[in-house]
Amino acid sequence: MNILIVGSGGREHAIASTFLRSPLVKKIVVSPGNPGIEEIAECRKVSVDDLDGLVKLAIEIKADLVFIGPELPLVKGLKNKLDTARIKTFGPTLEAARLEGSKIFSRNFCKKYKIPQPIYFECKNTQTAKKAINFFEGFCVIKADGLASGKGVIVCDNPEDAIKTSNSILIDKIFSEAGEKIIVEERLEGVEASVFALSNGKDFILIGTAQDHKRAFENDKGPNTGGMGAISPAPALNNQMLDEIVNKVIKPTIDGMNKENIPYEGVLYAGIMITKSGPKLIEFNCRLGDPEAQVILPRFKFDFLNLILSLMNNKKIDKNIKLHSRETAITVVMASKGYPGHFKKGFVLPDLNKYKKDEKITIFHSGTKLLNNKIISDGGRIFSVTALGENVKDCRKEVYRVLDSMNWPHGFFRKDIGKIIE
Ligand code: AMP
Ligand code: GLY
Repeated sequence: MNILIVGSGGREHAIASTFLRSPLVKKIVVSPGNPGIEEIAECRKVSVDDLDGLVKLAIEIKADLVFIGPELPLVKGLKNKLDTARIKTFGPTLEAARLEGSKIFSRNFCKKYKIPQPIYFECKNTQTAKKAINFFEGFCVIKADGLASGKGVIVCDNPEDAIKTSNSILIDKIFSEAGEKIIVEERLEGVEASVFALSNGKDFILIGTAQDHKRAFENDKGPNTGGMGAISPAPALNNQMLDEIVNKVIKPTIDGMNKENIPYEGVLYAGIMITKSGPKLIEFNCRLGDPEAQVILPRFKFDFLNLILSLMNNKKIDKNIKLHSRETAITVVMASKGYPGHFKKGFVLPDLNKYKKDEKITIFHSGTKLLNNKIISDGGRIFSVTALGENVKDCRKEVYRVLDSMNWPHGFFRKDIGKIIE
């Protein structure tokens, strides 16, 4: 099969290397890709928001399947365009991707189908926002309705900050049209965990769980980032809790979307807070997570591509099959100093080749670029190091052995990924 993967991050690097393990693959093209992906697959430079360019590319390479990594092309309707061109694509349509693309759609959908979630108010102006903020006495979370490059969620401690935040979105338009409307919602307390499922619109299968570490610094201090490290499986989830999440969140979502006549096909990523009164949905995403993909996919022993194709072809899937061969995986992100604020690019990376023979370690590129035959840093999150092992302790030892040995002065990484449960 010829496969086109859309995206350029560590997630897409992990997807490409997982697909390459399948005997069904003839050729993989990734667009736009990155220098790490270029070592294992062909990269083309069509960007993720050039939908027509991507359809053209899929036709040119005679793609038998397109797998879309990031949310932007999904929310903009790349799947719909590929459907029109009769190219098989695994991912939700524009309408279904609203579960991530519109926080208001998602919250109203969950309300209708009784999926547990925080109390929320939809606000179109500062007066309604103020009322909602007062209802929570300022201890709330404010969310821009649309996609805001991962910056549209602001956790507030007091009424002053919350009012300032709502004004900056609704009046100063810091998120442009993504912030036309906002959600003001109850601030949940508990432990976070993410659950990932693949669906063909009717049936679904769980493919793993993970815990991300969103804050920039150790002990969950500092600003929110795209994710500084992850661990799989999610330590907070035992089988009973996972069953509860499947029955209260995943299944009603797939069934509900069907009832709405918007069948959900693709990856469903449910971000959950385990609260004292049970699991509650923080948010849906319509894709794999980054860096969660870098811990879930390397654990797979089952042919991930075959699993997707079986689902797409409506084959009956035994939900009890053992998908993973490795018990645990940890990934730690090397980020540019200053990220997620201002940072410099263009530093030559440490020699990553020397870790290639290390069986327990895989390195996935994110923000990297090739210049004069050297790989340089080109983004906030530069690469991630994943260790596979039988337990958290082994994984931590391996991942930090590698990161410490790099001794790289231009980046930083969190040293506490998986520490509490070691
Ligand atoms: P993002 O991935 O940018 O949408 O960030 C979401 C993060 O904000 C989550 O991982 C949570 O840590 C936090 N968050 C979002 N909604 C809530 C909520 N209702 N209560 C508490 N924390 C939340
Ligand atoms: N790591 C969080 C996300 O991919 O949304």
